[in-house]
Amino acid sequence: MDSVPFLDLKALHEELGDEIEEMFRACMSSAQFCGGPMVEEFENEFARFCSSRYAVGVGSGTDALRFALIAAGVKPGDIVLTVPNTFIATAEAVSQAGAIPVFVDVDERTACMSPEKLTEYLETHCYHDPINGSTVSKITHKPLRAVVPVHLYGQTADMDPIMAIAQKYNLLVIEDACQAHGAEYFSRKTQTWVKAGSMGDASAFSFYPGKNLGALGEAGAVTTNDEKIASGVRVIRDHGQIKKYLHQIEGFNGRLDAIQAGVLTVKLRHLKRWNELRRECAARYQELISMIAGVELPYEPLWARSVFHLYVVQTSSRDTLQNFLTSKGIGTGLHYPIPLHLQEAYSVLGYKEGSFPVCEHLSKHLLSLPMHPFLTLEQQQAVAYSLRLFLEQVNQRV
Ligand SMILES: Cc1ncc(COP(=O)(O)O)c(C=O)c1O
Repeated sequence: MDSVPFLDLKALHEELGDEIEEMFRACMSSAQFCGGPMVEEFENEFARFCSSRYAVGVGSGTDALRFALIAAGVKPGDIVLTVPNTFIATAEAVSQAGAIPVFVDVDERTACMSPEKLTEYLETHCYHDPINGSTVSKITHKPLRAVVPVHLYGQTADMDPIMAIAQKYNLLVIEDACQAHGAEYFSRKTQTWVKAGSMGDASAFSFYPGKNLGALGEAGAVTTNDEKIASGVRVIRDHGQIKKYLHQIEGFNGRLDAIQAGVLTVKLRHLKRWNELRRECAARYQELISMIAGVELPYEPLWARSVFHLYVVQTSSRDTLQNFLTSKGIGTGLHYPIPLHLQEAYSVLGYKEGSFPVCEHLSKHLLSLPMHPFLTLEQQQAVAYSLRLFLEQVNQRV
């Protein structure tokens, strides 16, 4: 058996070669590279895909988060609640918007924001300011403005309770949907399946190449049902311009390139099928791995329909297993090995080992196995075989 790569972007692009080349030629002859009809077409299609009223293309997922926070009304000095088990961009966007990231721990089974921990933080560490109606930190006396749940690994956070808590405490909700293009959530409140990116005040998507919907470089989008947030993001991404050389605010250079929008429009037509293929791969892993002792499979609650951006298992001998799989030519990943609160970059926030025990435990036990739409049965069997070989040896030793 050849090696099993963690991700196979070549197979995906081979399938689309002609369609993408045709789009390149159309883009070159249009000579509209920043903004223009290709960007607008993608924005319309992506908004429809997310069941959201607006999509605004930007330069990356980080831009999308930062611009969404600013356009929704997060101000310098505000507190924004999020999780420590995520890519650093989630917290960077908060601090780059001038706000202060404050973490709450994650749920041990889904690895996403725990609604219970969110409530606990708000009840224990905050008070209600009756003058302006905001929730305020007891320690810093700064106002809490927003919560950013992260839809991790392709699966949404448990949004019903998070939305209810946000409403109770007067917080904006910005979904970090950078890993969840097409993921669905069953709202017990409305008794319907809803799309990631359609629930909060605004949502951020990344189209980094390895995502379920990936550009050929950097790209991102904000989705929202709020016309004001959508037009705010349009201004922020374009140097704060409301028309040429008329700058309402100081903004950013954070536009989506036309050529990336064109690639994304082509790929978006295939996304539903690719997501279904990922779900089939996950079901096959379930069959192949569930009998092996010493490995815990991803948990998909009844309210979630994951698009398996990543297939993340838990095991106690994670590091040695990862080395063993590497020696067998099987690519794996760690999402994420160092929680954000323990990163040097956030030492200023004053957290320490033990601040978020669930996240810390996960960081030592999680292992992402190969996952992409073109993973073959043989490749998955090879992964399962090596897993079994390794874990049987470990289990015999104990
Ligand atoms: C959860 C999460 N948030 C934010 C981002 C940032 O997206 P980008 O790399 O496009 O800036 C990523 C991308 O890896 C992500 O996985």
